[in-house]
Amino acid sequence: MEIIIQPDSRQASLVAARIVARTVREKPLAVLGLATGNTPLQLYRNLVRMHRDEGLDFAGMTSFNLDEYVGIPPAHPSSFHSYMWAHLFSHINMPKERINIPDGLTTDVPAACRKYEQAIRSAGGIDVQVLGIGSNGHIGFNEPSSSLSSRTRIKTLTEESRLDVAAAFGGEEGVPTHVLTMGLGTIMDARKCLLLAFGKKKARAVARTVEGPVTAMVPGSVLQLHPRTILVLDKDAASELEMADYYAWVHEHKPDWQKY
Ligand code: PGA
Repeated sequence: MEIIIQPDSRQASLVAARIVARTVREKPLAVLGLATGNTPLQLYRNLVRMHRDEGLDFAGMTSFNLDEYVGIPPAHPSSFHSYMWAHLFSHINMPKERINIPDGLTTDVPAACRKYEQAIRSAGGIDVQVLGIGSNGHIGFNEPSSSLSSRTRIKTLTEESRLDVAAAFGGEEGVPTHVLTMGLGTIMDARKCLLLAFGKKKARAVARTVEGPVTAMVPGSVLQLHPRTILVLDKDAASELEMADYYAWVHEHKPDWQKY
């Protein structure tokens, strides 16, 4: 794992944007795996700015989002569809027909999940997968106890995850109980994983993900088995890492050709 610690989320999000932009520039037909939540907002803002000011071109891109709530129509203001259009897709030139988000209204969940997996494979696999992390260590909505080799499927949210998003649904009672999410096996197939985490609230999950044992109880820890995972953290999210000084040293001494 490569661990990049920045002073704050603004600078961390700039580094993350440079990593994604490099893939977009180097591979004009790249496949992007995208996440929602508060964490990637500044990353998306940077990508929108790079598109507007530097001509970063998404015309050949395909995207797959990690997850969507079950039973929530795409037009619902708190759906992940709405989030993605509001914060990214309306502002860049990614072709609409190559944007993929799980269908939370499907009447045949297993078939829709199989189709999603098939679509990722047909697109050639994900080149870079953007990830946040839950305070309980989930990535995507793979809650603790998720199989480390799971594929896209339905999951039941934990109470902690439901509380985390309660405000967006007018209180916990309004939060959907189920989601469709890429599995940990799906995420592990991405060529590169880029996990962002900001704030003290994520420090424990980050430390368990990086320095704890690989366990289904901390789904993010499966990334220890991924050959190309980059974590971009602010100081607070890195605050419980025992080897933080070493990670910072490694980053400072990177050869120029490896820098972002
Ligand atoms: P957040 O969510 O970015 O809103 O903190 C991350 C997650 O739950 O994966």
